[in-house]
Amino acid sequence: MSEHLERIRKVQSLLQPKQALLLFANSYKMRNRDVEYKFRQDSNYYYLTGISEANGILFIRKDTRIHFCLPKNKQEEIWTGVRLGKEKWKEILNLDESYELQEWNFKKLELLINIETLYYFFGENSERDKEILELCSHLNKKLRDGKFGPSRIELPLFLHEMRMIKSSQEISKLQEAVKITQEGHIAVIQAAKHGMYEHELEAILESTYLKHGAWGGGYGHIVASGKNATILHYTNNHDILKDGDLVLVDSGAEKDYYTADVTRVFPVAKKFTSVQQVIYEIVLDVQKKAISMVQKGVKFWDIHKETIKNLCIHLKDLKLFQESLDEIIEKELYKKYYMHKTGHWLGMDVHDVGTYYENFQSRILENGMITTIEPGLYFDSLDDSIPEEFRGIGIRIEDDILVNENSPINLTASIPKEILEIEALKS
Ligand code: GLY
Ligand code: MN
Ligand code: MN
Repeated sequence: MSEHLERIRKVQSLLQPKQALLLFANSYKMRNRDVEYKFRQDSNYYYLTGISEANGILFIRKDTRIHFCLPKNKQEEIWTGVRLGKEKWKEILNLDESYELQEWNFKKLELLINIETLYYFFGENSERDKEILELCSHLNKKLRDGKFGPSRIELPLFLHEMRMIKSSQEISKLQEAVKITQEGHIAVIQAAKHGMYEHELEAILESTYLKHGAWGGGYGHIVASGKNATILHYTNNHDILKDGDLVLVDSGAEKDYYTADVTRVFPVAKKFTSVQQVIYEIVLDVQKKAISMVQKGVKFWDIHKETIKNLCIHLKDLKLFQESLDEIIEKELYKKYYMHKTGHWLGMDVHDVGTYYENFQSRILENGMITTIEPGLYFDSLDDSIPEEFRGIGIRIEDDILVNENSPINLTASIPKEILEIEALKS
């Protein structure tokens, strides 16, 4: 049985008899006029179906699987590609009922009759939210007929919980994404030269990913040279590379719906300057310590706390703070140089689904979870309270770590990050 079918079965086992899951595929989004953005299936829908056809609707009850798909249509298919058609959908997902989308309007009311809780991702599409609410409201006016509609609409967070724990197949897919990402990162480290543009490096990343059948980057490539690296989500990528500058590249390939998320920093010239080395080694030291904490039973937020403490010790050694360690941490003074979190879940989405707290307490790491570990230091180029030699330096080092019983598994360990390894790539 396919992994997707197993997941549908799992969902069915989780649902109570008067509960249902309603899940919508993504539709094409217009870029301008009649031109669409490149299509990417909704991650939850793909997680259950494994099919990247647009506009489908999946309705699951404990004992029923129903799907609505785009109708076969020769004329439309000439323009936008072959559609599976309802028979094929039925076969692939072992459906009880398979319909074409035009049937949705006739069937939707009857599907919701006597459902108490409807699991549905509300808040993502206001027109659809309105449609669902109206259906519920309509049915709940039929109480005298012995019918009722959902009195509760809940987010299907059980799907997110399922997605948090990666199977061996999912890990293999992520490893494939990492392999492609590695090639991209190494290629840009080797290619970067004084006078090139950041977008030339971006082109290398994207073309490497596409060459290997990836969807492209799993998020916008960040290619930030010089002081641009102090802008956390810099994606403009049109600046010119200069000898003496560092380049921060935060980029990951998405292959088969799983994305890597990797940051490396390297010099445009052949070597790091001594000041750049100092800051780089601090971030690397702190990052390695954080990675070593990623294992089963550890509180997710303890890794961030420890990372802050370790960074602050270094920042004090650099004489960037006169205050005590406790004061720097309590008053969050470190945010001047480190203003983001140390990691996030990773998987089908770069900032993957799943909670970070349970009952207001930090989530505990479990086998099969994947988190990034990405500490950094950023020195504002215009802040004259910062020693001049540090201004404009931005360094983040990011790896993807699989939680395992006894020791962390760094999925991106093969992408060079030691200074000597990076300099060797440029020699
Ligand atoms: N690439 C986005 C992030 O590192 O969170
Ligand atoms: Mn990240
Ligand atoms: Mn990143």
